[in-house]
Amino acid sequence: MATASEIAAVGVIGAGQMGSGIAQLAAAAGCAVLLLDADSAALSRAVASISASLRRLAAKGQLSQAACEGSIKRIRCVSTVQDLRDADLVIEAIVENEDVKKKLFVELDKITKPSAILASNTSSISITRLASATKRPSQVIGMHFFNPPPIMKLIEIIRGADTSDEVFAAVKSFSERLEKTVICSQDYPGFIVNRILMPMINEAFWALYTGVATKEDIDTGMKLGTNHPMGPLQLADFIGLDVCLSVLRVLHNGLGDNKYSPCPLLVQYVDAGRLGKKRGVGVYSYGQKSSSLKP
Ligand code: 3HC
Repeated sequence: MATASEIAAVGVIGAGQMGSGIAQLAAAAGCAVLLLDADSAALSRAVASISASLRRLAAKGQLSQAACEGSIKRIRCVSTVQDLRDADLVIEAIVENEDVKKKLFVELDKITKPSAILASNTSSISITRLASATKRPSQVIGMHFFNPPPIMKLIEIIRGADTSDEVFAAVKSFSERLEKTVICSQDYPGFIVNRILMPMINEAFWALYTGVATKEDIDTGMKLGTNHPMGPLQLADFIGLDVCLSVLRVLHNGLGDNKYSPCPLLVQYVDAGRLGKKRGVGVYSYGQKSSSLKP
């Protein structure tokens, strides 16, 4: 198994906001990155956003021009899982669906080299259950990044029931190579951050639903009253209301406490396709992407 300094080739699966941010971080740390998505348009969008993000950092002097261009060159877009056969570490950032992720882990287990570490960026799905889909559960781990990955300073590492100490140590030092602070969570629903964040977001929806205040006052209250960079409803739009709902359902089912039961207003917004910023409408309207609201 590769140690952190031996992790030279990183596969990232899913070219959405999280996957592209993770690919950018790994490339900036000097790794050869294979960014995999079956959707070529998503890959093109990812390359454009990674380039823009790196150039933004270079313009602010946080990255040299050479490092910026070198990072862009280190990212290769690929379209099949077979292209990841030489990766030392694979990080998946695909849809939050346990069955879909498990199928992917079965495939990764077959095609990656025996020493490869398989990581999931899941926001709440059990790492132990994902690991059980493979014949290498000791090499499966959670690496939970935060949006936007290039800016947020944290990686939450989740140890499955069988994750080895060596794999944990390698992924911890690799995360530090990405210049992130690491926290470690046991494999319980929502891990650390979402266990605490999502009930707050849910409570903000209850406050709106029961007419406590307007959305603007709820957000301004939390921004200025507790110094959060975004209010909880604005943050829910930023994360994606579908993602918030899915994490709350994992908390509700996994912890069996009604305090995690999703607010009906959040459920209704998701049913209506109001998924947040990515759809141009969620709690707020963003005045773009006027196409179909359906998920
Ligand atoms: N790449 C490079 N730079 C970026 C960037 C990116 N992708 N996104 C933002 N930036 C930079 C901007 O250039 C700007 O730099 P400057 O201050 O030097 O000019 C700085 O970040 C701030 O950006 P903006 O001025 O565009 O906007 P804001 O000041 O509103 O900051 C924000 C944006 C960083 C997103 C801030 O609002 C924030 O921290 N919000 C909270 C985000 C958060 O909580 N994320 C975690 C969500 S939970 C999660 O992801 C877990 C999941 O499982 C649900």
